[in-house]
Amino acid sequence: MDFALKGDILYSKSLNKVSENARSYLVCVDGKCEGVFKKLPSKYKGIKVYDYSGNLIIPGLVDMHLHAPQYMFIGLHMDLELIDWLNTYTFPTEARYKDIRFAKKAYDIFVNDLIHSPTTRFSMFATIHNDATLYLVDKLDKIGFKGYVGKINMDRNSPKYLIEKTEKSIKDTIKYIESVKKYKNIKPIITPRFIPSCSDTLMRKLSDIVKTYDLPVQSHLSENRAEIEWVKELMPSVKCYEEAYDRFDMLGSVTSTIMAHYVWPDEKGIELMKKRNVWVAHCPSSNRNLSSGIAPVGRFLREKIKVGLATDVAGGSYLSMFRAMEDAITTSKIRKCLYDPEYYNVTIEQALYLATISGGEFFGKVGSFEKGYEFDAVVIDEKSIPTVLMKELTVLERFERFVYRAKNKVKAKFIAGKKVI
Ligand code: GUN
Ligand code: FE
Repeated sequence: MDFALKGDILYSKSLNKVSENARSYLVCVDGKCEGVFKKLPSKYKGIKVYDYSGNLIIPGLVDMHLHAPQYMFIGLHMDLELIDWLNTYTFPTEARYKDIRFAKKAYDIFVNDLIHSPTTRFSMFATIHNDATLYLVDKLDKIGFKGYVGKINMDRNSPKYLIEKTEKSIKDTIKYIESVKKYKNIKPIITPRFIPSCSDTLMRKLSDIVKTYDLPVQSHLSENRAEIEWVKELMPSVKCYEEAYDRFDMLGSVTSTIMAHYVWPDEKGIELMKKRNVWVAHCPSSNRNLSSGIAPVGRFLREKIKVGLATDVAGGSYLSMFRAMEDAITTSKIRKCLYDPEYYNVTIEQALYLATISGGEFFGKVGSFEKGYEFDAVVIDEKSIPTVLMKELTVLERFERFVYRAKNKVKAKFIAGKKVI
């Protein structure tokens, strides 16, 4: 059904430029944007108009990296660094998803919260378990969410209660891909957890699957300094961590790839990232919580490396992409102030760019209200933040203020033209 939304419309046009449209109409035809209009053009006369006058309307936000099963311990156990955090808290929690009754309860809570959030697209990690992961896929697809969900692979350096035999890992991955084929909205993505938990044989076989099925890849890269040292020990013949993935054609040489974190780029590795067009999922909350560092996202933007924004639940301690925007801005200022004066800090315009068209490009024509983009939109109700204003604010100022006083809940949400709430 074709329709229009009426309200105060904001979207990113490019890295530093936004389009502000007070009291305007955003038209959807066949699930795609027709554009933003001051007055509804006569050819759309008679279409349904959702009147959100006085509310902000922005593109749906793109979460480039999060772990659905970890939502159950969000906000707990933030006192350790990566490897200890994984071993002490993360792996025992993920192991619970072997029990489908536990998985159903946990994923029901997670998906319900995701529905009310500003997120419309995502690239998500599940666990090694096919049954639980397929339950998650089915739920997300039925709602109309669009994005990628990966069944994790891990066959080494993992606890005995959360490890796969190499052959079984491959078999289960193929089964998973075949089972997800019937879904329209959710697609599979090849998900080796990270180099330390995947043997060379597993990586080679996953790489064959990537080529056979033409699937994208997601993993973790250069998040923590101890992790980087570990990868050097595990693969002494590679010059840098980036090359460890590239050895197996898993760094964008044959398919699109998302690498989460990338807090500590290697100077040779960063050239490889550019050459391979790899997407970095910037996870500012997680990088702070796990004392991983602050990724040089200003440098990535300047050097035209592809970057999207991510929550990395539960390294990141919230599901809200509004809060991820705030953290991208604030952590970049700390980096600039403390040890990188050359570096430019992230602005509100850039934060919106990262969370919409920049990350959105991974999913196709996503993240903008220009004609031809998929119609992903969320409506923000500022009445949830009572205030007395000193002056009238611009549309961008209102958005900025909302980001800093962020609530996760949105008033309405549309994904590819489907009204979800
Ligand atoms: N590296 C490998 N696994 C994980 C994970 O679950 N979370 C984070 N933040 N980093 C990882
Ligand atoms: Fe992660």
